[in-house]
Amino acid sequence: MSRTHRQFPASIQDVRFDRLVGTYPEQPMSYADRYDPDEDFDRWYTTATAREVVRWLRPGDPVLELGCATGLMTASLAGAGAVVTAVDHAPSYLERLRARDLPDVVAVEHDIVTIDLGARFRHVVLANVAHEVADPAALFRTAAAHLVPGGLLHVTLQNPRSIHRLVGLELGVIGDLQELSDRGKDLDTVQLLDADRLAALGRAAGLRGVHRGGIMLKPLPNDLMAALPEAVLEGFVAAAHHLPEHASMSYLVLERPTGADGG
Ligand SMILES: C[S@@+](CC[C@H](N)C(=O)[O-])C[C@H]1O[C@@H](n2cnc3c(N)ncnc32)[C@H](O)[C@@H]1O
Repeated sequence: MSRTHRQFPASIQDVRFDRLVGTYPEQPMSYADRYDPDEDFDRWYTTATAREVVRWLRPGDPVLELGCATGLMTASLAGAGAVVTAVDHAPSYLERLRARDLPDVVAVEHDIVTIDLGARFRHVVLANVAHEVADPAALFRTAAAHLVPGGLLHVTLQNPRSIHRLVGLELGVIGDLQELSDRGKDLDTVQLLDADRLAALGRAAGLRGVHRGGIMLKPLPNDLMAALPEAVLEGFVAAAHHLPEHASMSYLVLERPTGADGG
């Protein structure tokens, strides 16, 4: 018997195949046909975020990853021994996740705001996705509802106060720090949410902050960053620990308090 079967109630497999996939409505709008998260510069955030999340994991921990795309982060979580339920609404991304053939990973095609798996997890990962939903408060409530008491929600999101945006502001490329870039609009960004706003969304969902950090310092736009040697980019990843308030991505860890429902 695999660890997946030991960790989850038997009903989760039924949920996956019968309710979630079977009744999923028509194909949602998606940028999956024009954005490859494994090739885009964003992969640096994904791998750097995975390294941060993995620090909090113990082998065997059940993890719910909301907005998993092709599974680049899922691979790191599974590599750390986590038992992962990975959710996305893009079928072509999920196909690539399944092709990775990762141990103890279940792929679920569903909307991440409305999903209700009827199971709870030690960790929920919400990496670089909350900016794409119309109702982030509902997304945080969904994430919190899937946590065991004492469980942790890991959230990352583009930081409006990233160094490259401050430079863009001073150069007149953007008019204010909340302004969406053309690339952001093309990739379904609805709004930018800073770390304070993410923490407030967490509080409204009943979660308390336990850690606030940052993912990668990025002084330049992606195409200029991509021209730098990998060793230098690794330096920008490591240096984010010194300047999290101006990192490219905010990283928050929020806890579902124990005791609220018998935990
Ligand atoms: C920018 S990618 C981030 C992927 C991954 N979490 C990472 O950090 O590399 C956002 C992912 O969330 C998915 N997504 C966005 N909105 C969604 C929704 N409402 N329901 C399900 N998946 C969604 C997209 O299809 C995409 O795969």
